[in-house]
Amino acid sequence: MSVILDGKALAALRKDALRVQVLQSGLTVGLAVIQVGDNPASRVYVNHKIRACADVGMQSFKHHLPETTAQADVVALIQSLNQDPDVHGILVQLPLPSALDTDAVLAAIDPAKDVDGLHIQNAGRVFLGDTGGLVPCTPLGCMMLLDHYLADVPLRGKHAVVLGRSRLVGRPVASLLLQRDCTVTIAHSATQGLPALVGTADILVAAIGKPCFVPLLWMKEGAIVLDVGINRTDQGTLVGDVDFDGDTAKLCAYTPVPGGVGPMTVTCLLINTFKAAVALHGRTPD
Ligand code: GUN
Repeated sequence: MSVILDGKALAALRKDALRVQVLQSGLTVGLAVIQVGDNPASRVYVNHKIRACADVGMQSFKHHLPETTAQADVVALIQSLNQDPDVHGILVQLPLPSALDTDAVLAAIDPAKDVDGLHIQNAGRVFLGDTGGLVPCTPLGCMMLLDHYLADVPLRGKHAVVLGRSRLVGRPVASLLLQRDCTVTIAHSATQGLPALVGTADILVAAIGKPCFVPLLWMKEGAIVLDVGINRTDQGTLVGDVDFDGDTAKLCAYTPVPGGVGPMTVTCLLINTFKAAVALHGRTPD
């Protein structure tokens, strides 16, 4: 019998705890979310994030800018949010329109308000093994799922194969697994012999954004599978990067899609926003 890493249930548990923490803190916690352009998936994600704030008693400020917004105007908005005492977290939904320089936009965010953990300062801390700062939400959610549902399964010495090298998931989740003494392999679009490599994974993180790309057949007996993919099919259903068609009983544990990693990403954003708010309120004015 394999364990289902139920992100929906764990997210609900963590949000209940957070709601109480926010209330008890007496702080009015605020998250600003910036969306540039009309990517339909971004619109859905942003609306989820805005709703989730209300769900735990946080304020949210949505800034939806046109596709053609100039780089300087996006940066100017971020700079004003950096100075805004009602805003404790700033999230720029990715991908940005191709005319914008993503690195420069993310670099404009005050690292103390970078609740996505994507500013080079926060990303660098994670890369160096310092998990005490603002850690990217999806990787943090993956680790919470492992720690909650598989608390008695040691990660030390396990071979973790991460499919994907994005700033949002692949690179930071590899760093977090390395920090927990996994032996980590990062695979990407130029990696050779993917089926054999996947077959060596004790832990597989699939974050490539290709629907049902990895078949169950490739996976090792007893593997733990974290499917980060959220892909919409032509029929309108959501599927992950892993095709679980077959006997999932061969696995130790796996995340369903939907209801696995996705809800944890949003919950970790809220957790990071509260963490940022507490830290900012403890900060002495410049
Ligand atoms: N686009 C897809 N997922 C995410 C996320 O977690 N954060 C941001 N900023 N953009 C995303």
